[in-house]
Amino acid sequence: MRHYKLAFLGFGNVGQALARLLLSKRQELVERQGITFQVVGVATSRHGSAISIEGLNLEQALALAESGSDLGQLTTQPVRDNFEFVTACGADILFENTPVNYASGQPAIQHLQAALTNGMHAITANKGPVVHAYRDLTKLAHQHGRKFFFESTVMDGAPIFSLFRTALPGATLLAFRGVLNSTTNMILSRMEMGERFEDAVRYTQQIGIAETDPSGDIDGWDAAIKVAALVNVLMEIPLKPAQVDRTGIREITTADIQSARAKGQRYKLVCSAVRSGDEIQARVAPELVPQSSPLFAVEGTSSMITFETDVLGPLSILEENPGPDTTAYGLFADFLNAVRDA
Ligand SMILES: NC(=O)c1ccc[n+]([C@@H]2O[C@H](COP(=O)([O-])OP(=O)(O)OC[C@H]3O[C@@H](n4cnc5c(N)ncnc54)[C@H](OP(=O)(O)O)[C@@H]3O)[C@@H](O)[C@H]2O)c1
Repeated sequence: MRHYKLAFLGFGNVGQALARLLLSKRQELVERQGITFQVVGVATSRHGSAISIEGLNLEQALALAESGSDLGQLTTQPVRDNFEFVTACGADILFENTPVNYASGQPAIQHLQAALTNGMHAITANKGPVVHAYRDLTKLAHQHGRKFFFESTVMDGAPIFSLFRTALPGATLLAFRGVLNSTTNMILSRMEMGERFEDAVRYTQQIGIAETDPSGDIDGWDAAIKVAALVNVLMEIPLKPAQVDRTGIREITTADIQSARAKGQRYKLVCSAVRSGDEIQARVAPELVPQSSPLFAVEGTSSMITFETDVLGPLSILEENPGPDTTAYGLFADFLNAVRDA
């Protein structure tokens, strides 16, 4: 039996969903993987942080988080800041699930560096560290004999990065094209039903998929950062989100959408990248998609990507109706993949 100590930096929608998944899989992990675990730390921004070297009661931590209570009441020692949290918790695996910083990826990058240099596997759903520090964090992980994994950063729990890492050895990715932003796809779907842009945006906020400030989605930043993550990792070409040719969906009117519908077409915010040699053309822009396109049927919060490689015909992955639970599975899969050969 192998035993792992886990720590959560960030315990919001995703961190809590991961905690629920771990609890529901606890027995199965023992029986099928020979793995037991305990949680030695949970840290948040405004809801306190807790470390217990002996192990926290995860059900209790979840109940406190779900009721908006202070997690600090569970701690057995003072936790002054996130660096102290990472270095003092003694975890084997750090799950980093704090909000994305599109511009720099910080402070998450520094927290992941601290985890790796302290001998932990570093696992995140946060796109910032992938686009701003993928190479450095991967090198650091290698130096310390640990893993830096981030499956959930693009298409939640669907296997995108691990697909290329394990299932497609030796394949070269030449191009990809997809719908990768749930919020804009839902807004466009609602506008097709006649809803005004502002009302469709409000709806995405009500169902919890758009931020209070939804401009990161609407102006294509979230899509651009995902394109940059895919290009950095799968094509091994450094690309910042600002280098993606980016147009959001603000200029599209309900009338535009309905006239497209009348012609049997749909607007989709299409993410794409095409490689030629070491050059990359990366783009996020609304496109009119005909019925013959696989993207035509991507509804609501679903996402889809088609990969073109040098070895297979077009290979597509469709993820229907993802949410924090599917994101949590991506982190859970990263955990099992990270410790697989240990
Ligand atoms: N939601 C999804 O389905 C999804 C899908 C893919 C990727 N992601 C990514 O996953 C990450 C987490 O998303 P989420 O939906 O769980 O966000 P969330 O609900 O806003 O939770 C964020 C958590 O991070 C904590 N936090 C914020 N700043 C912190 C800091 N400086 N130090 C320590 N903790 C800090 C927050 O604490 P407080 O509660 O005290 O504010 C909260 O616990 C984001 O990077 C997001 O882009 C999310």
